[in-house]
Amino acid sequence: MKTHQRFVRTHTNGQLRASDLGKSVTLCGWVHKRRDHGGLIFVDMRDRYGLTQVVFDPAHPSGKVAHELAGKLRSEFVFWCKGTVRSRPSGMTNSNMATGEIEVICDELSILSEAKTPPFPIEDDIDVAETLRLKYRYLDLRRPILQKNLLIRHRMLSIVRNHLDQNDFVEIETPILYKSTPEGARDFIVPSRLNPGTFYALPQSPQTLKQLLMVSGMDRYFQIARCFRDEDLRADRQPEFSQVDIETSFMDEEAFFPILENMIAKLWKEVLGQEVQTPFPRMPYAEAMARFGSDKPDVRFGLELQDISEIFGASTFQVFQNVASIRAIKVEGQAERFSRKDLDDLQSLASTYGAKGLLWIKVQPTGELQSPAAKFFTDSEKQGLITALALKPGDLVLAVADKKNKVVFDSLGALRLALGARLGMIPKLGEGKPAFLWVMNFPLLEFDEKENRYFACHHPFTSPRPEFFEDFIAGRNLDKIEACAYDMVLNGVEVGGGSLRIYRPDVQAAMFKLLGLTPEEAKHKFGFFLEALQYGTPPHGGIAFGVDRLAALLCGVGPIRDVMAFPKTQRGHCLMSESPSEVSADQLAELGVTVVRPANG
Ligand code: AMO
Ligand code: AMP
Repeated sequence: MKTHQRFVRTHTNGQLRASDLGKSVTLCGWVHKRRDHGGLIFVDMRDRYGLTQVVFDPAHPSGKVAHELAGKLRSEFVFWCKGTVRSRPSGMTNSNMATGEIEVICDELSILSEAKTPPFPIEDDIDVAETLRLKYRYLDLRRPILQKNLLIRHRMLSIVRNHLDQNDFVEIETPILYKSTPEGARDFIVPSRLNPGTFYALPQSPQTLKQLLMVSGMDRYFQIARCFRDEDLRADRQPEFSQVDIETSFMDEEAFFPILENMIAKLWKEVLGQEVQTPFPRMPYAEAMARFGSDKPDVRFGLELQDISEIFGASTFQVFQNVASIRAIKVEGQAERFSRKDLDDLQSLASTYGAKGLLWIKVQPTGELQSPAAKFFTDSEKQGLITALALKPGDLVLAVADKKNKVVFDSLGALRLALGARLGMIPKLGEGKPAFLWVMNFPLLEFDEKENRYFACHHPFTSPRPEFFEDFIAGRNLDKIEACAYDMVLNGVEVGGGSLRIYRPDVQAAMFKLLGLTPEEAKHKFGFFLEALQYGTPPHGGIAFGVDRLAALLCGVGPIRDVMAFPKTQRGHCLMSESPSEVSADQLAELGVTVVRPANG
C-alpha cells in the first residue's frame, strides 16, 4: 500500500452520467449497500450527493486485488476506489437513481475506515425511537432526509443574507454573555469566575443590543442570532434557537413590510418554486381572536367562531349566565360523525384551556335541536340560533361560555384546529398554498391576575400606537391600549414577531413603571439602556423571524428538531453528549457556586 496516498475524489457520488462513459474516476464515500453475487460484488457508495454503484469483478484484468479486499467491506465502512465508468448492462439500469445508467468497475480499492454496525439503518423510512436517533445524531444526520433539511436551511439563510445585504442591512454579531433581555421566558445564567457572585444571562434575543445599534447610527442591522430561553419546550420550541433578527431606523410598517414580504416571497420562490402573493393580508388582533380564537390563525380553512352571546342574553341556562361571551363553532353536516365519546374528548381538550365545559347541539333530521341543554332553551332562542348560524339538519354546534373571553377564545381556537385536522380540512405539511398574513394592533399590555400586575404582550420596548399615547402616559384604559406590534403568521405558525419601539427615554421609563419596576429596579436592569436613549435616538423598529420554524415550513416537517443539527429533547437534554451534566467540585469552588439539591432529587 502506498504510504502517503491522498484519498481524493474526481467526482461525487451523485455526479456520474452516461456522458462520462469510459472515464477513469476516483470516488470516496460510505458503503450504503453491499451485494455479494458469488463472483461479482456490488457496492452502492454513498455521500451527501447520492449513490454510485461500484462493481468488483475478479475477472476484471486489474481488479483481482480490489475484489478480494471488497469482501471485507461492510455497511458504513468508508472507502476510496479508482475505476472506469461503464454503462450498466441493458435491463440493469435504475431510473430511481441519478447515476442509475452507469456503474464504476473498480481497479483499486482502499478501506479508509471501518464501522461498527450502526444502531439503525441509514435510510429515510426507519421505525426507530427518536431518542435512539438523537443519541446517535451523527448517524441520523447521514440519512438523506435530514441532509436535505439542513441543505434547505442553509439555502434559506444564504437567500436571507443576500436579500438583506442588497437592502443595505449590515450583519453584526452581538454578545452571548450578556444581561437579561426580557422576552417572557426564564434566563439561562452563567456564573462569572472573575467576578464571584455575579452572573451573565444568555440573551433571550439581542433586543436591547440591536436597539443600541440604532442609537449608534447603524441604521439597518441584521443577524442570524442565537437565542436562549428557559421555557417549557414543545414541538416548535427549543431552549436555544435561531432568529433572523432585524432592526431599522426611520421606517414605518409601510416601508418595512415590503422588504420582509419580498424576502419571504424569495424564499418560497427559490426554495420551493412557489409564487407567494405580496403584500400579505393584514388582520387586526381583535379580528383574529374573534374569527379564529387565535393570534396566529390558520386561515386555510373555515370553522370560524361565531358570537352567540346576544341570542342567549336572557337565558335561564346557568352556564350561560354572568359570562363575558358565548361563542360557537358550526360543523356543517357532520353531526353523525361525532359520538358521545368524541364529544367528551373534545370537551377534555377544551378544558385544558380552562373551559368549564363544552356544549354540543346537534340538528336532527327533523330540524329539532338535540343537546344536553336543549330543555333550557326557549323557542325563540332556538330559532335565533338556527337563523344566526344558518343551521341545517346534520349540523353540529360546539359552544363555550366563560367569564373570561380569553378562555372562550383559547379553547375554541384549539378546538377549531382539532376539528379541522379530524375533518381533513387542513392541508398536509408541505402541501397546498402557503397562507401568510400579518396580525397587527396587538394589545400593549396584559394583566396577570396571579402576579397582580401588567406584563408587556410583546416586550417592554414596544411602542403604544400613537392614538393611545395620551392614555398610556396618563396610565388610563390600560387594557385598551394597542401596540405598534406585528406578527407574521404562516399556516397557523407564528414565524416572526416585531414592533416599532419606544424611542423617548421618558416614555420608556413610564413603561417600566407601568410594568411594576421600581426606579431602582429599572436602573439596575435597564439603566444603561435608558441612559443610551438620551443621546439622540432615532425612531426605530424591527422584527425577528424564527429560523427553525421557517426552515421547518420550507422543509414540510412538523417539529423544528428535524431542521436542527443537534437539537435537545423536551426535557432540554442533548442525548448525544449527555448534557446538561454535573461539573467537578473544583469548578464549582472556582466559580463560588454551591449546588443545593432539591429534597426529592
Ligand atoms: P419573539 O419572542 O416573538 O420576538 O421571537 C421571534 C420569533 O422567534 C421564534 N421563536 C422560537 N423558535 C424556536 N424556539 C423558541 N423557543 C422560540 N421562541 C421564539 C418565533 C418567533 O416569532 N426580540 C423580539 C423580536 C423583535 O421585537 O424584533 C423577539 O424575540 O418564530
Ligand atoms: P351541566 O349543567 O354542568 O350538566 O352542563 C350541561 C352542559 O353544558 C354539558 O354538556 C357541559 O359540557 C356544558 N357546559 C358546562 N359548562 C360550560 C361552559 N362554560 N361552556 C359551554 N358549555 C358548558
